[in-house]
Amino acid sequence: MGTLPRLGILLSGRGSNFMAIADNIAAGKIRAEIAIVISNRADAAGLEEARKRGLETRLIPSKGFEREQYDRMVVDVLKEKKVDLVCLAGFMRLLSAYFVSHFPNRILNIHPSILPSFPGLEAQHQALQHGVKFSGCTVHFVDENLDAGPIIAQAIVSILDEDTAETLSARILKEEHRIYSEAINFVLSGNFRIKERRVIQSSR
Ligand code: GAR
Repeated sequence: MGTLPRLGILLSGRGSNFMAIADNIAAGKIRAEIAIVISNRADAAGLEEARKRGLETRLIPSKGFEREQYDRMVVDVLKEKKVDLVCLAGFMRLLSAYFVSHFPNRILNIHPSILPSFPGLEAQHQALQHGVKFSGCTVHFVDENLDAGPIIAQAIVSILDEDTAETLSARILKEEHRIYSEAINFVLSGNFRIKERRVIQSSR
């Protein structure tokens, strides 16, 4: 069997993506373990949910810290917990070059749009405002730019005439929960290479 890859989850809010990953681990659909769940916000519902599930958690409030100063504290905990893969799950902070350099191609993020369209906050609202007919979600490697690294997986969601930000977000979220776990399995398989910006599956 060998030892399981160790995931570090970073979240700032509700934590539904974290829960989907934890459920898939419990169901044997992802061969990994969650080594630590870290939040920058005390009021993150995801943190409470992680505690309820008996997972190790750490609250590291970000208020008042400069970006790199904060990231050093987070990286210290991730290293202490021997984390192999960092999964941002609604972690609403940009990472510093310091953080990224400590986990090269070992940090994933999920974003609720088809990147590079609509990076940043309220991506679903941005899509409706722009009037696009399709949106969706993206899992990508993280670099120090906003929602910007090489793309691992995407899923498309049609936009309906009657959609609001809430109804569209709910349909996108369903896809987020599916493709994030698929992307984690893909990355853990190690069966890929990154050519310029393209994440390409290696031939078996
Ligand atoms: C998700 O929709 C995720 O894609 C988004 O925040 C939400 C977190 O929900 N992330 C971003 O916008 C990152 N730029 P969750 O806490 O229920 O997983």
